[in-house]
Amino acid sequence: MKHTDIKTIFEDKGLVGGKVTVCGWVRTARNSKNMAFMELNDGTTLNHLQIVIDKALGIDFEDALKLGTAVRVTGTAVASEQNGVEINAEGIDVIGECPAEYPLQKKRHTLEYLRTMPHLRGRTNTFNAVFRVRSVAAAAIHEFFQSQNYVYVNTPLITGSDCEGAGEMFQVTTIGYSDKYKSADEYYADDFFGKRAGLSVSGQLEGEVAAMAFGKIYTFGPSFRAENSNTPRHVAEFWHVEPEIAFAQLDEVIEIAEEMIKFVIGRILEKCPSEMKFFDQRFENGLIQKLEDLISHDFAVCTYTEAIELLKKADIEFAYPVEWGLDLQTEHERYICEKVFGRAVFVTNYPREIKSFYMKQNDDGKTVAAVDLLVPGVGEIIGGSEREANYDKLVAEMQRRGMDMAPYGDYLDLRRFGSVPHGGFGLGFERLIMYVTGMSNIRDVILYPRTVGGIR
Ligand code: 4AD
Ligand code: MG
Repeated sequence: MKHTDIKTIFEDKGLVGGKVTVCGWVRTARNSKNMAFMELNDGTTLNHLQIVIDKALGIDFEDALKLGTAVRVTGTAVASEQNGVEINAEGIDVIGECPAEYPLQKKRHTLEYLRTMPHLRGRTNTFNAVFRVRSVAAAAIHEFFQSQNYVYVNTPLITGSDCEGAGEMFQVTTIGYSDKYKSADEYYADDFFGKRAGLSVSGQLEGEVAAMAFGKIYTFGPSFRAENSNTPRHVAEFWHVEPEIAFAQLDEVIEIAEEMIKFVIGRILEKCPSEMKFFDQRFENGLIQKLEDLISHDFAVCTYTEAIELLKKADIEFAYPVEWGLDLQTEHERYICEKVFGRAVFVTNYPREIKSFYMKQNDDGKTVAAVDLLVPGVGEIIGGSEREANYDKLVAEMQRRGMDMAPYGDYLDLRRFGSVPHGGFGLGFERLIMYVTGMSNIRDVILYPRTVGGIR
């Protein structure tokens, strides 16, 4: 169906005075004595296009006034003081009828209610804005890395090794376990791959393989975590941006993370002004200012040890204990970035016991060259590190942890054949979108959230 995007109708002043055809769904409708009006949205912009129907013209429009109806309108584009542009209708075709049971009748619904209809909620202003920002952010991530000689690689989603070693891997199998197997090994041997396989929690290990060949790489794809945590910040399937850089040490990893975040947010502010204004008004007052401040100041940096000292000095009661060696909980992360620094902060050099096996071991013997980026309102959005590039040290750590070395042969080979210092990080894409839109639940920034007990 040849037609013009509503976004173009608003932007291309050359169309005013001419004939146009637009398609979209009816968002509001009003019927008065001599005139009828409807507002049309086709998803290309947050702005609704007003269609003016002069009843004297005898256009058949009654069915088109029902909310949710899909229509095609032909008419003349005219300048309007209130709306910028509107259409004086000359012909209206109903393309898809919509009965009164269409659930989006009211102007505003709660986000919880909209979560019950992921297939329809995209037709609200909120989700229209979220998904456009998400799309622009994804393009900006590619732009950032592509403009700096990074190679975009696609790492496997089905894997035999648990990168984070946290036991949160979904199993991939074509057969159910049955009594006929005497052991788990026997069962896995009989399965599709002949050994235990799962959905990848991170593309990092294969990302390192690629970085040892192409120098600078990034992945951007889904990661899966069977975390049994029903929080506003966790989904079982999230999108993960993972750069890996050869010859980079921790300070360079931190620099790249800061530059990337600033670049992406800058692009969003530039390309999505009306969406960002919408979020500022509806979800987080001061959001735009917050982001402008973020991109124009250095992020703070503090070590884990300093963070623990700050938390111990805090004059508030935390629900979880604060002790050197314990992991930081969300409440601690938020205190550090919201109350202490009031901005984004990199926390570095965590105790080795609470981080993954692959992180570079610091000379103190107690900490590793890890980094998390914490932001106000959300907490951790990035986790990364310099990697242990020394074969003997890495093997010793894996043995100390009692890991099965078999799935990591390729990974260890990288430390045997021309090993170099390297590092990278993982950005939780949905967490970034939460931060830039002010949406407080991760379920509202992904098309179909996968959570414990929730699949559709
Ligand atoms: O901190 P994580 O576990 O780090 C890694 O996976 C490393 N292999 C990354 C690397 O160095 N290449 O995860 C990275 C980020 C977290 O900071 C968080 O933003 C996001 O991934 N993340 C999740 N987002 C949504 N739901 C979940 N269940 C998430 N788990 C991690
Ligand atoms: Mg982490």
